[in-house]
Formats: sequence, C-alpha cells, structure tokens
Amino acid sequence: MSRFRSVLLFCICWARLHSEPASQSLSIMPLPAHVTLAPGRLPLNSGFTVRLTGYTEPRLARAAARMISRLEKQTGHSFASTGPATLTISCERTGAPIQSLGEEESYHLEITPSGARLTAPQPLGALRGIETILQLVRPGPEGFALPALTIDDQPRFPWRGLSYDVSRHFMPLDQIKRTLDGMAAVKLNVFHLHLSDNQGFRIESKIYPNLQKLGSGGLYYTQAQIRDIVAYARDRGIRVVPEIDLPGHATAILVAYPELAVSPAPVEIDHVYGVLDPVLDPTKPGVYLFLDRLIGEMASLFPDAYFHIGGDEVNGRLWRESAEIAAFKQAHHLLPTPQDPDANDALQAMFNRRLEPILAKHGKQMEGWDEILAPGVPKNIVIQSWRGQKSLADAARLGYRGILSSGYYLDLALPASEHYLIDPLDGEANTLTPEEQKRILGGEAAMWSEWVTPETMDSRLWPRAAVVAERFWSPRAVRDVPDMYRRMYILSRQLEWLGLTHQSWNNPMLQRLAGPNDVEPLRILGEAVEPVKHYDRDRFGPYTTESPFNEFVDAVSPESEDSLRLSAGVTEALQTHNWDLVRAQLTLWRENGVRVAPLCKDNALLSGVDLLSRNTSELAAVGLDSIQAIETENKRNPEWKLSNLARIKSLEEPSAALMPAFSGVITVLVNAAAN
Ligand code: ACM
Repeated sequence: MSRFRSVLLFCICWARLHSEPASQSLSIMPLPAHVTLAPGRLPLNSGFTVRLTGYTEPRLARAAARMISRLEKQTGHSFASTGPATLTISCERTGAPIQSLGEEESYHLEITPSGARLTAPQPLGALRGIETILQLVRPGPEGFALPALTIDDQPRFPWRGLSYDVSRHFMPLDQIKRTLDGMAAVKLNVFHLHLSDNQGFRIESKIYPNLQKLGSGGLYYTQAQIRDIVAYARDRGIRVVPEIDLPGHATAILVAYPELAVSPAPVEIDHVYGVLDPVLDPTKPGVYLFLDRLIGEMASLFPDAYFHIGGDEVNGRLWRESAEIAAFKQAHHLLPTPQDPDANDALQAMFNRRLEPILAKHGKQMEGWDEILAPGVPKNIVIQSWRGQKSLADAARLGYRGILSSGYYLDLALPASEHYLIDPLDGEANTLTPEEQKRILGGEAAMWSEWVTPETMDSRLWPRAAVVAERFWSPRAVRDVPDMYRRMYILSRQLEWLGLTHQSWNNPMLQRLAGPNDVEPLRILGEAVEPVKHYDRDRFGPYTTESPFNEFVDAVSPESEDSLRLSAGVTEALQTHNWDLVRAQLTLWRENGVRVAPLCKDNALLSGVDLLSRNTSELAAVGLDSIQAIETENKRNPEWKLSNLARIKSLEEPSAALMPAFSGVITVLVNAAAN
C-alpha cells in the first residue's frame, strides 16, 4: 500500500520533474553541447548490428563489445553479429598512447529511423558517444528504440575528475571497477586515487615493502591490481592520477619508515581522523632519497603525466617544536613572516621545491592541494583547490593551472543541487582575464572515506557525482535544477544496471536493523529523512576506521528523493488546489511513527531513531494540519504560525545523525496556511 501510494505520487505529482518531454531536453546526463531532435525512432531489436569502421584498435573493439552487451542486458535481445550495420562507429585516427590532458573527446552522433552513425576524430570521442547512445535507449510503441536526433558534443573542461579516498577505508578492486564504469557513463575522465594517508598506505611497493606490511593493515592493491585498474580505466577513457599525501597525512608511511619522521615517530597507523601530528622531516636528506625511489617506482605503475603529492593540512606542531628544525630554518633563511609566524609554510614550500625536480626526473608534473601554492614553486604544477574558489583564482592569476574541488565534496551529504550550481568559473574566477580563465582546467568531485565502508560507498557517491560531471562537461548555461533532478534520477537507475549499488545497498542493511520484524516502517522513515550535513556526523561519534558504520543513517541516502517529490507536489497543489497526493504522502509519514516505535524498543542499533521517527511523524502532522487550513480557506492566526514555525525548528533537530528532510516543505505549508 505504502509503495503504491509512493508510486502514485511519483507518477502524478512529479510529472513535470519526471516525465520525458519529447521536444525539450534529452533525459541524459551530462547534457550534450548541441542536440537536434528529429521525428522517428531507430528500433533496437535482434536485427541491430554494430560495426567499427575507419581507424580501429583493440580498445575500440572492446568498447563496442561492451556496448553490445550492455544494450543486450538493457533490452533483453541478442543482437545479430552479421548483416548490414545498424550503427557504425567510425574513428578518424589513433589517440595518444597515454591518455593526455586535453586529448580530443568530441563526437558526432546521427540517429535516423533506418540507422545510426557515431563519428569521432579520436577514440576518446567514440567512447563518450557510446555512453550517450546507451543513455538514449527507451521503450516505445515498437519495443526498445533510440530517438532520431543529431548530437554534436564536446566537453567544456578537459579535467573532469573524481578524487577517491581508499586510505581511510580500503575499497576492493571490484568496487573500483564499477566506480570507473560509473565515471565513464557520465564522461568523467580523471580517477584521482588518494592512496596514502594517516590511516593506510594502499599500494604495494617492492622497494619499500614495509609501506604495505606495516602501513596498510593488510589492505592494499598489489602492483598487478594497480596495472589492472589503470588498464581498465584507459579502456574507458579515464586517466588515473595517484596521490601520495606528503609531508602531512603521512602516518602510514612513517610507521613503516620511522627514520623519515620528525620524532616522535608514530608506532601504528591511525584509526582516528583529523589533522594529526605525524609529519615527514623535510630537513633530512634521506627523505628525498626515499621519495625519489618511491616516486620512481610509483611513476612506473601510473603512466599519467601528473602525480599528486597531497600537501594539505600540515598542522606544523612537530616542526614548530623541534630544535633541529628551528636551526635548519635559520640556516636556510626560512624566516617568519606575519602570515607564517613559524616559517612552517616556508619550510613546506622548500620541501615542495625539492620534490618537484624529483617528479620531473620521473616524467611527472606535480599536482597538489592548494596549500602547495607558495612562492618559487614552478609554474607547471597543478593546484587542486579544496579551500575555496578564491585560491583557484589566485593560482590562475599567478600563472598556475588549477582544478576546483571546493564545493564538490560528496562525502558531506549535501543536496545535488548545491554541488550542481557551483561552477569552476564562478566567484573570484569571474574576475580573471580569458587567458587566466583558461588555466582553470576543470574540477574533481571528492569522496573522502572517513564515514563510509565498501557497503555504503556507492550510496554516498552516486548519483550525485553525475551532476558534478555535468557541470564539467555541459555548456555553462545548463543550470536548470528541476531538469537536473529529473535526469539525475533517470540516470541513477542506469548506473545501478552497471553494477553500482547506490539504490540497493540499503536493503540488507535495513533488514539487519529490523531483525525478524517488518522492514517497511524503517524503509518509509529512511525515505523521509536525510543524514546530517557537512561534518556534523562527527557529533554523533566518535567514529574511527574501526566503527562498523552499520547504523540507520548508513542505510539512508544523502538526499531524500521522496522529499524532493513532495516539494514539487506542494508547488503544484498550491496552484491546482488538489492536495490528495501530498496528503497521502504526509499521512503515510505521520502514521509511520507508531510502526517504527516497536522496532526501536530494545534495539541499540536504532538508538535515537525512535525520537527521529516521532519528530518526522509530528512534522508530517503539522503539514496535514496546514493543508486542512489551506483547503478550507480557514486562515490560521499569526500566533498559530509562530508557534508552528518554532515547532518545526525543534522537530528538525537531528537525532541518530539524521533529520527529517521535508521541514522546508512544511514551512511553506505553514506560511500558506496563515497568509
Ligand atoms: C582536504 O580536504 N584536506 C584536501
């Protein structure tokens, strides 16, 4: 019954958000640069054949084979392998032997009722076009089909990445691969692997085996697995940029090789999170010898031209407290300034200046978080800005290339719309000259893994990573938020078909939490609430790498689709005066309170969920009361309004690291009931 109501609400209230307008934008993500729709459809039946023409290579043949297998899975057909081609994929020339920044990714796609043609100057464009085709499949009057159209497409930014933290929580190989599949589906092209941090060093070194022996808790990628990841990514048009975070965030390295540390060296990898003390000693020549050999070894595993050295959040305490380091600073004229009273920034800048030629020697350009931007660092480095748009603009003004990650931290459980509306060229970047703006290469969504496990990772990443991908790929003017959500939820299903688990991960979790009881009340509650935002999850801890992350909050999506739908439903009902569906949803939520209560009794795993559930139920009741006033045109007085607004404030207080997701909608209803 509840599902049925939910589905009804989906179908009707969200008509504008969820239907596919025939003549407007396509329901794909990222939206292409230019689309012309035409009448008719190309059937996808068992007679469908695909042929590669022009320049070809094994990577393209594999991409075509993958496409066919995904289309077969999507349609249930087995396609013919002989006969005249329905779809030809044609490439003009070879791509770079190692995928390069800015390599041609454009493609041209023409679909008519009698056939389709995908052409691209180079293989990357063909890969991007194939993903577009896969998103276009729809059921129709004659079965599955592709719409007739012409697309001319190319990316807005050449660097469209995902930073993926495997240090705080290690992610297994199959999870990495499905992440790469998801990235390819939305045309992301850089997989930035955050391989080392305080909590783990996650890649095998044959030269320095203590790194994985003592620094990983046994959870690391072998060199063979890394080669597999790099090859898998290349097949999908994705560069892999490794990050070894230096000189802070380095406990795992220093546990393995304590002689590189400022004493006291740490004795075990950290299980807690934060900006911790352990730090390399940049005054020791042995540190540079170590890094030369390690980076040389890593450089041979990652063919990409860029190598990320981290550089973020050096707390400087041990540098500040060391007499030897103080003497070194003196001797090397690393002097205090008002902005840098301990001369620690100057010391880190010196470290980076010494690191850069080591990277160059191994054929790598240096990339780092925005802290690495300091006087005297060579102009060929790339700055990844996490501290704000200003640092990116500052870097560009000084002649440095950069990418934006500030605003794209997916681990903070923020709404997709918030990430979507941030543009690498907004804010300070608006004041740059066109020449300076060109130095902004794009951006990276970031997924830090303090609060995720392999079980929950996908749900934090998808589908919201797709809207950041659209920001980097599609024309700047593509900013329609309701249309973004409409397309994001369509794409979201397709990402599940690829093997990502962001829609299904919570079934087993909710079942575990419910024990032998009916799981439905928890599911309904889970769809009405959202995790707390930003870093507020920490207030419900303490959390460490050892925490199980098996709480109710871990089984709840960062963003409530039902609440978005409710919001659209209210907007519609205020115009149509038909409140039936909004009332149905709020009634379901109001009545769910008494169903959740018995599940929480004597269940420590659901501690705090009872209060959350009661608040959610009561919030729905405030909404229903407001609807009654609106419908009967029985305007409520200002005291009623004030007391209900105050009530909403207290009901939206987080409990169990969750809060009702629809308090904004209830505020609209209360205001409408009183005005
Ligand atoms: C960062 O978030 N410390 C890069």
